[in-house]
Amino acid sequence: MVKVRKAVIPAAGLGTRLLPLTKALPKEMLPIIDKPTIQYIIEEAVESGIKDIIIVTGKEKKAIEDHFDSSFLLEETLSKKGKLEELREIRKISQLANIHYIRQSEPNGLGHAIWCARKFIGNEPFAVLLGDTLVEEKKSCLKDMMELYDKCQNSIIGIKCVDKTDVHKYGIVDVEKENGPVYNIQSLIEKPSQEQAPSNLAIFGRYILTPKIFNLLENQEPGVGNEIQLTDAISALLKYELVYAHVFNGKSYDIGDKLGYLKTIIEFALQREDLEKEVLYFLRGIVAKRSE
Ligand code: UTP
Repeated sequence: MVKVRKAVIPAAGLGTRLLPLTKALPKEMLPIIDKPTIQYIIEEAVESGIKDIIIVTGKEKKAIEDHFDSSFLLEETLSKKGKLEELREIRKISQLANIHYIRQSEPNGLGHAIWCARKFIGNEPFAVLLGDTLVEEKKSCLKDMMELYDKCQNSIIGIKCVDKTDVHKYGIVDVEKENGPVYNIQSLIEKPSQEQAPSNLAIFGRYILTPKIFNLLENQEPGVGNEIQLTDAISALLKYELVYAHVFNGKSYDIGDKLGYLKTIIEFALQREDLEKEVLYFLRGIVAKRSE
């Protein structure tokens, strides 16, 4: 039985929905209070049992690399000042996992970003965690998907139910029938209109893929937005292998647009003991004032 040991985190998109901020900063480095988004994602991968991670970066990779590197000056200063808790926290970041980097020279789409990681992955199954999507911390969606992979040895796509009015924002799957805790995928379509969408089951940013996907990505024609779409390559994969959909019932957070980012920060603040009370008090105050 082959196990999933490696993960790809694509973080090379232009992030145009968050301009001008993303002009010089990758959206994956956006802070959720005091931690960058991508650190939550790496922690999720590590908690699921993955040790080797490759981040696909664009031209703004320095901030990401610096964050996960050790920082001698900072560590020495914290140590001298006796800030031991902060020191532990900072050291933990650089020891999280074996993190590697590869550059996507042009933002040709998510499918192309994954293809860039093919040499690092080699001939084994791997996980993909989108760099701008967080999942509710305690329910590890990826871990469940990895356990499922151990049993079925086929690709598995994380899906969630979305409003019919939102299907145009996602890859949408058509499922055949319930098969234990999972569905068999029959077809996939990237960002369909409401009329085209075969269901409201949306791909939201967590995948386990077999290495066969790399051959298909290699020959994949550009799709929606003139980009090489991962959804299209998974569609092609269906001709060779079964692909399963795993329904995630926890919450997911998309920080890739302004409103999604704002909602994520508020929700995360309300989940933190040190902030919950005051943030709630502040929000209630605003709402009360608005409804005066
Ligand atoms: P998105 O489509 O949400 O990212 O890709 P984007 O293209 O940066 O966003 P907008 O539409 O311009 O605002 C989902 C994930 O895939 C990565 C992104 O960084 C994001 O984490 N991605 C996307 C790449 O790594 N390379 C690409 O060419 C496209």
